[in-house]
Amino acid sequence: MNHKIAPSVLAADFANIQRDVEMINNSEADWFHIDIMDGVFVPNISFGFPVMEAIKKHAKKPLDVHLMIVEPDRYISTFKKAGADVLTVHYEACDHLHRTIQAIKAEGMKAGVALNPHTPIHLLKDVIADLDLVCIMSVNPGFGGQSFIRNTFNKVQELKALIVESESNALIEIDGGVGTDNAKLLVECGADVLVAGSSVFKAENPSEAVAQLKRLETIVKSI
Ligand code: DX5
Ligand code: ZN
Repeated sequence: MNHKIAPSVLAADFANIQRDVEMINNSEADWFHIDIMDGVFVPNISFGFPVMEAIKKHAKKPLDVHLMIVEPDRYISTFKKAGADVLTVHYEACDHLHRTIQAIKAEGMKAGVALNPHTPIHLLKDVIADLDLVCIMSVNPGFGGQSFIRNTFNKVQELKALIVESESNALIEIDGGVGTDNAKLLVECGADVLVAGSSVFKAENPSEAVAQLKRLETIVKSI
């Protein structure tokens, strides 16, 4: 399968959001990654519905919405109305994960579950067949621009094995610290979707940065 690139709008310039949305529209990116943080589940607040709706108005590609919020069930239908195509909740934020997944699908969205770096893959065993996407956090959620946690490579391989064994169609998404230095190896380990915030938006040429991730060019930057 051809891997997808999902630039994280968190790293965009919010004073020029339409310009940055058009950049993604015109690039080789596949999805928009939208990070919603509530200041409770994670120690940061990002943005809410008005901003998401403004992005949706101009976006010509699916919105991949990553909820870093407690009690996500309260907002599932509102996120559908705001334009979410894929809705991902955190394993650590859901007491009744199976019910939450079914509620997302009942709204006509693809259902994803994200795992924090400390959460083991095997906890998904009994829901993996129901999932459209699993997001492996390769940083602790809450902020862009953090360093990639290398244990992620092991988790991707373990998740790939679980997906094959259970005949699940779930895509494997990697979120946090992704760039040209680790993208190729992640895809070789089984990743299907690469989220990239800083490595795209802080690049001199953001759409070329997307193209490099799409081509899996390996460029290791010296510090
Ligand atoms: C982190 C967010 C990520 C973040 C990625 O909590 O979920 O999507 O925007 O940003 P980078 O690519 O800069 O690590
Ligand atoms: Zn994210």
